[in-house]
Amino acid sequence: MCGIVGYIGNKKASSILIQGLQRLEYRGYDSAGIATIEKNSIKIMKDKGRVNNLYNLEGIDNLEGTIGIAHTRWATHGKPSKDNAHPHYDNDNMFAVVHNGIIENYNELRSELIEKGYHFVSQTDTEVIPNLINYYYKQDKTKDDNKVLKAVKNACMDLIGSFAIEVISSESPENMIVVRKDSPLVIGKGYKENYIASDIPAILSYTKDFYFLNDYEFALLSRDKIKFYDTNLVEIDKPTKSIEWDSKGAEKDGYEHFMLKEIYEQPIAIRETIGTRLSNGKVIFDELDFSKEYLQSLNKIFIVACGTAMHAGIVSKTIFERLCKIPVEVEIASEFRYRDPLIDEKTLAIYISQSGETADTIAALKLAKSKGAKTLAISNVIGSSITREADYSIYTHAGPEIAVASTKAYTSQITLLTLLAIYCSEKLERADSDKITKLKEDLLEAPSKVEEVLKNTSQIKKFAKKVHKEKDMFFLGRGIDYAVSLEGSLKLKEISYIHSEGYASGELKHGPIALIDTGVTVISIMTDPKLVEKSISNVQEVITRGAKVLIVTNQDLENKGFELVIKIPEISTEISPLLSIVPLQLFAYYISKEKGLDVDKPRNLAKSVTVE
Ligand code: G6P
Repeated sequence: MCGIVGYIGNKKASSILIQGLQRLEYRGYDSAGIATIEKNSIKIMKDKGRVNNLYNLEGIDNLEGTIGIAHTRWATHGKPSKDNAHPHYDNDNMFAVVHNGIIENYNELRSELIEKGYHFVSQTDTEVIPNLINYYYKQDKTKDDNKVLKAVKNACMDLIGSFAIEVISSESPENMIVVRKDSPLVIGKGYKENYIASDIPAILSYTKDFYFLNDYEFALLSRDKIKFYDTNLVEIDKPTKSIEWDSKGAEKDGYEHFMLKEIYEQPIAIRETIGTRLSNGKVIFDELDFSKEYLQSLNKIFIVACGTAMHAGIVSKTIFERLCKIPVEVEIASEFRYRDPLIDEKTLAIYISQSGETADTIAALKLAKSKGAKTLAISNVIGSSITREADYSIYTHAGPEIAVASTKAYTSQITLLTLLAIYCSEKLERADSDKITKLKEDLLEAPSKVEEVLKNTSQIKKFAKKVHKEKDMFFLGRGIDYAVSLEGSLKLKEISYIHSEGYASGELKHGPIALIDTGVTVISIMTDPKLVEKSISNVQEVITRGAKVLIVTNQDLENKGFELVIKIPEISTEISPLLSIVPLQLFAYYISKEKGLDVDKPRNLAKSVTVE
């Protein structure tokens, strides 16, 4: 989705802005642009295509301004084109605006502005914003110092939808104004300079001190000061938060792709997520105050998320139900929010979001909160929107995840959910204590077992090479392995553009087996000893029909006549996904690489989906 960068300081803004945009490339985009203040007037440079194209624009090297805004656009209203790229001017070139989000009432606003004599050069929803600001600015006959801020505020109050906006103005050339509603934006505090970005990694190499705006909070930035205002333009105080992430986390560090680096970072991400939450045999969540009585009162847990995070939820359903004996429903956020789910104060609603900015997940959280449920957010990004909405927030410690296809966030989410299930279950005293002890031991051993899996990649690489030209693949599993098959299939789709389906092995006979023919590739995950024999029967059924089969298992199935068996270490079934997903991530990675695709930035996808 769109990315925003801003700089106000004493350095040449253009290069900082373009570098910032390059760090946001992973979010997905189709055009890019910057605007700087050059001798009290605004200069906009933008184009369709890659951020790198900006370096070729005539005159870009002559930009000397030290204040500027920048944007990568992921087209929603209007095709990717230079005119539709941000920043956008108002009709008098007094204001330049970049915007992330969607203005739902832009048609009405546009008509009203046209009636007032304004004209538009793009098809975007965004262009109404600078013109509305222009309108309010001209209406204001005062000589108020904060006249631009007032105009920006008045314009924003007319907008319906979601927005993160940066504004610079020739009328106030020493300032920048930013505001957000339901769209991500962070402010990085430097020494006599300040930074803006859609997310932390883009500016992590400049600062570790961040401000996080709530909806409808306005920030007026100058080089050495940031003032915050509410919607009445009354000044408010905001604390900074220090981010512990190492800026190296946002660099490739010798790896060919971020995705590969992040796959290899999983042992450390799992270790960090366990951190001090599990020590001396005790699981501790200082952020939570769930009493035994509260947990006993629950009749349902909802786990709601999108994409890979939702798949982490499906994995954890098993452990929650087994340990806590509370029914768990896992839901896709975009469905949950519109289907009028049964929620009351006896519901605990858990939301998982790596970025903490996914629009549907945030909306689904607000819904449960409004119906009296306690809401708990699981995110990887401190201060992200979802954590500001939720009653409780707990964090994975995966470090910045840059590749669009999520890997280490997924395994960290499963780790944290496992700890959470143990925490709740110990309070409830509903599970067998030996079982819990074993899970804790296994969780602590998981990182080194993932390391083992990562040492054994040659067979997967070879198999990926063999099947990379296929058009369809199936991922099969039973029980928790079915949950993993969904994620394995998603990884493949996302980065290799091969159609694939994750299917419950036992369900294969009820339809999809009709698609199995000579040469079709089937990947079968078998880690639950109780279900292995049944899964083998299902695999035999596809082999008989000519399928090429890759088996990922912790059982001794080598030398049983299967084409390829990837052996992973044994671990409790409930947390086996931490290991079994790794060969599947690598499989998708090697296929994408073999096909020469853009592994980290697959077509049409965005890392952070901040619109519905
Ligand atoms: C997008 C990303 C996925 C991610 C999903 C949910 O689709 O491409 O990798 O799993 O959003 O994102 P979240 O940040 O909420 O976990």
